[in-house]
Amino acid sequence: MASVPSLAATVHQRLAHALSAAVPEAAGADPMLRRSDRADFQANGMLALAKRLKGNPRELAARVTEALPANEEIADIEVSGPGFLNITVTDEAVVRTLAARAADERLGVPYAEHPGTTVIDYSQPNVAKEMHVGHLRSTVIGDALVQILEHQGEKVVRRHHIGDWGTQFGMLIQYLIEHPHELDHSSDAAGATGEGEAAMARLNRLYKASRVLFDSDAEFKTRARDRVAQLQGGDEETLRLWHKIVDESKIYFQGVYRLLDVEIRDEDTLGESAYNDDLHQVVKELEESGVAVRSEGALCVFFDDVKGPDGNPTPLIVQKSDGGFGYAATDLAAIRDRIGTLHADTLLYVVDARQALHFRMVFETARRAGWLPDGAARQLPFGTVLGKDGKPFKTRAGETIRLVDLLDEAVERAAAVVREKSAGLGLTDEEIRERSTQVGIGAVKYADLSNSLTRDYVFDLDRMVSLNGDTSVYLQYAYARIQSILRRAGGDAKPAAHPEIALAPAERALGLHLDEFADTLAQTAEAYEPHKLAAYLYQLASLYTTFYDQCPVLKAEGGPDQVENRLFLCDLTARTLHQGMALLGIRTPERL
Ligand code: ARG
Repeated sequence: MASVPSLAATVHQRLAHALSAAVPEAAGADPMLRRSDRADFQANGMLALAKRLKGNPRELAARVTEALPANEEIADIEVSGPGFLNITVTDEAVVRTLAARAADERLGVPYAEHPGTTVIDYSQPNVAKEMHVGHLRSTVIGDALVQILEHQGEKVVRRHHIGDWGTQFGMLIQYLIEHPHELDHSSDAAGATGEGEAAMARLNRLYKASRVLFDSDAEFKTRARDRVAQLQGGDEETLRLWHKIVDESKIYFQGVYRLLDVEIRDEDTLGESAYNDDLHQVVKELEESGVAVRSEGALCVFFDDVKGPDGNPTPLIVQKSDGGFGYAATDLAAIRDRIGTLHADTLLYVVDARQALHFRMVFETARRAGWLPDGAARQLPFGTVLGKDGKPFKTRAGETIRLVDLLDEAVERAAAVVREKSAGLGLTDEEIRERSTQVGIGAVKYADLSNSLTRDYVFDLDRMVSLNGDTSVYLQYAYARIQSILRRAGGDAKPAAHPEIALAPAERALGLHLDEFADTLAQTAEAYEPHKLAAYLYQLASLYTTFYDQCPVLKAEGGPDQVENRLFLCDLTARTLHQGMALLGIRTPERL
């Protein structure tokens, strides 16, 4: 494993040295190197520096040029405009750097210098309820961030803070006690679609039946309320039935995760209930330290800048006046556990933007209590999934749309695309199904991840499975096309690079972009922004398409070495696409 500095990093360093040699008082200044359309790179740091030193930027730039020792990377450097430096690198340097990347299993991507421990709170559906598009976002974004951070060498602890506690369980459990066969599997309709779906159907039935009784029968309502107290007090029979409901839900969740192609482990699933035993301690410490105060019987934390529409302060309620604990209490207990016991440096919460106020208040409370270092916790709020009408995605009847239905539809649409594209290839039904799943699920994930997290986006399957434009299918086709070229080239040996061969413009553009992979990953991880990686990969596929159109590979005019050098570029592009897509949780089928 050898990390390979990008050409941008090497050139940057050469310029920085030349700068401090030419102008000693500028030592440490940033030459501000960027990729550019004019040349390969442009450095515009001379402008700010000249201002600071009260000099002439063009003259300063010229001095830097002169101070630059002869080197292997820079083919040409010239002063332009008000004092920019335009830099062109040699073809040879491009290919040599790429060859070093290709020789490394990690494509030359370094590990972070100071890795720490990050807890990511993501994919937290609610027990006895259907998963919806909000849970899709949390799952897909969280999974990508886990992969991206782990790839950088960060220790990542996954936490699925599922909604498995609360007053509705009193109603469900009481109903089960009075109707002991309600969750029995034998009563399933034959032909139910998959065990996960069957489990959800049973839970839905239980939910509806108990709700009806709860709303119509005052005595049942009282019994259900008492049942909550027994649940929180740890009554054995109550807990047994609670477990039954939770397990049934987990069967359903796993069915959705399997379809979504994400791995969610039971040992990482610590729902709200997991913190039940800590809640009294949380309350005690908050009350004793004065962080929280009793107000009308409830234990509250107040904030100067959080007020309701009436101008009165809106508190965070840690304990209700009836003694019950809510969502805020379990989140506070979880913070104590994650910082105090897991010794995490960073806590991330991949949760809907509509919960921003909740997290702001919870973090501030934990900070005041001394449980959370300043700035250690961060919500990564995500926007809403919209229907084509631009409103939050609902069925015509105004109900939330079931995630499984959406995913099934995505796979179905993808099947149409796959069938059309592979007509005449004689694929079996099984092969078509497998590819359609990879294409359809990839399309949904990519559409989600290619938007910046906070943006709302429209769930438009027609667009998502389109072969043209910024879609995963486009990227998957680029990958599959390269694999087909490599197969046609024959031979199992990896194609070698030939740095002595001059590059066509499309090859240089592709090569320089390939060289930016490691830097892109570092930026993506640093900002927790998967869409940066998605944008990089889309550009990679686009540059590859241009290369493919302009530069014949197997029939290159320059002879066998040029053929091999182009195959080398193809191979590295494929490996980069594959690695990048894998970090986003998206498959790259070998054939499409
Ligand atoms: N279960 C919640 C929901 O579906 C999300 C939980 C988010 N995580 C947390 N630590 N509060 O809205």
